[in-house]
Amino acid sequence: MRAIQIVTTRLSSCLRPIRFELVSSSSSPRLLSNSRRLICTAAATKSDGGRSGSIVAPLVENEEVQKIDVNPPKGTRDFAPDDMRLRNWLFNHFKEVSRLFGYEEVDYPVLETEALFIRKAGEEIRDQLYCFEDRGKRRVALRPELTPSLARLVIQKGKSVSLPLKWFAIGQCWRYERMTRGRRREHYQWNMDIIGVPHVTAEAELISAIVTFFKRIGITASDVGFKVSSRKVLQEMLRKYGVPENLFGRVCIIIDKIEKIPIDEIKKELGFTGISEDAIEQLLQVLSVKSLDDLEDVLGGAGEAIADLKQLFSLAEKFGYSEWIQFDASVVRGLAYYTGIVFEGFDRKGNLRAICGGGRYDRLLPTYGGDDIPACGFGFGDAVIVELLKEKNLLPELGQEVENIVCALEKDLQGAAATVATALRSKGQTVDLVLESKPLKWVFKRAARINARRLILVGKTEWEDGSVSVKVLSTGEQFQVKLNDLE
Ligand code: HAM
Repeated sequence: MRAIQIVTTRLSSCLRPIRFELVSSSSSPRLLSNSRRLICTAAATKSDGGRSGSIVAPLVENEEVQKIDVNPPKGTRDFAPDDMRLRNWLFNHFKEVSRLFGYEEVDYPVLETEALFIRKAGEEIRDQLYCFEDRGKRRVALRPELTPSLARLVIQKGKSVSLPLKWFAIGQCWRYERMTRGRRREHYQWNMDIIGVPHVTAEAELISAIVTFFKRIGITASDVGFKVSSRKVLQEMLRKYGVPENLFGRVCIIIDKIEKIPIDEIKKELGFTGISEDAIEQLLQVLSVKSLDDLEDVLGGAGEAIADLKQLFSLAEKFGYSEWIQFDASVVRGLAYYTGIVFEGFDRKGNLRAICGGGRYDRLLPTYGGDDIPACGFGFGDAVIVELLKEKNLLPELGQEVENIVCALEKDLQGAAATVATALRSKGQTVDLVLESKPLKWVFKRAARINARRLILVGKTEWEDGSVSVKVLSTGEQFQVKLNDLE
């Protein structure tokens, strides 16, 4: 038996090197694995340019066939070309808006140390963590959000970066969530954050960026709004009742659950923290306030909460998005680190979970041992917005778009077609090169499917003259052109 060719490949499913040994051109090649010898067949050479000489579906002998579940794990997604086109469309808008606002792109590892996400306030996100011990016995976690990684990087960069930082990121986050509409176990989040600005001008700009994004994709103020509040409202209330500062985060997390669990449970949980019944009643009452004037009545006019909120509403007018925002004291947000303004984007029909959310987190960096640097930002997921676009019939129609399809009219002109494709690509034109001999009917069908603008045919006579034949598919117009003049 004389081996004439050895090909080494990998089966992606098991990452075990497999060797294909082609024993002779006419007999079956053998598939050699570490411990087994398996036989597979070679396809017959087809005159129409089919899969000549390639190995089709290896016939596996003496090995169990392990049928796999072709769906991705629950709560996760594949991105086939159609889905990927939509994702790219969305992400391009995220990026373009960030660029318009002068933000720089950053990214962090999806895998972080578990400790980065452990906060003691009893957040839901902690229970949803995908965490495990790696082979080096380190506790690690798939990031459920990007903010802790951002804080870590800012601390790591220290004085080498000049403030304020305006950063954006688009990254995959993992949360073991109960699956509902728009909530998944894996999602992408667009984040924009400002590090080093203590003033409400920062929050006002962030909301302006989200409004800019909504407008670009056809969402209006009658579809979506922002509920805005400040955690300083609760802070001032707690101070008034002598509740220790260190309970602040925990109280916020309990209050954030108001719409998810019965009010008696909320009261019980608040009671466990040691807050008096009177204080609990007052806290719950202030949460129902829906106007700044009423809030002023409850808190008195002098506090920071009122001042910040008033400034935000005044800036919203200047930025031009007043109609998008409303005060709502019940917005507290479910993450412990927020300290000031908090906001959430919601659909006005009330069918969907929060579209996006963010706020000020001035104490996060110091809790990781970093300097006391003020910060604020938002996270905007890729799932709820797609649900909203579907509901509003605003999903874009995104087909594949390749400008040219290049096809050799005869088998021995395949090389010439490759030359044509290369020439066009070097001029920045996108090209789908037909890699096999195919009937023209097939080529036209494919051209329609990829939305090609031109069909470029490489025929013997024209090519001998250094020319190709170009067909403009929208008009049917056809002409010959020298390769050098092909633009
Ligand atoms: P968050 O409210 O937990 O905030 O998430 C922000 C957004 O991410 C949500 O409004 C939603 O669009 C999306 N999202 C969250 N969880 C899921 C999920 N399971 N499935 C689909 N989408 C989801 C944060 O994560 C903060 N770190 C945001 C931030 C950045 N605050 C300051 N800077």
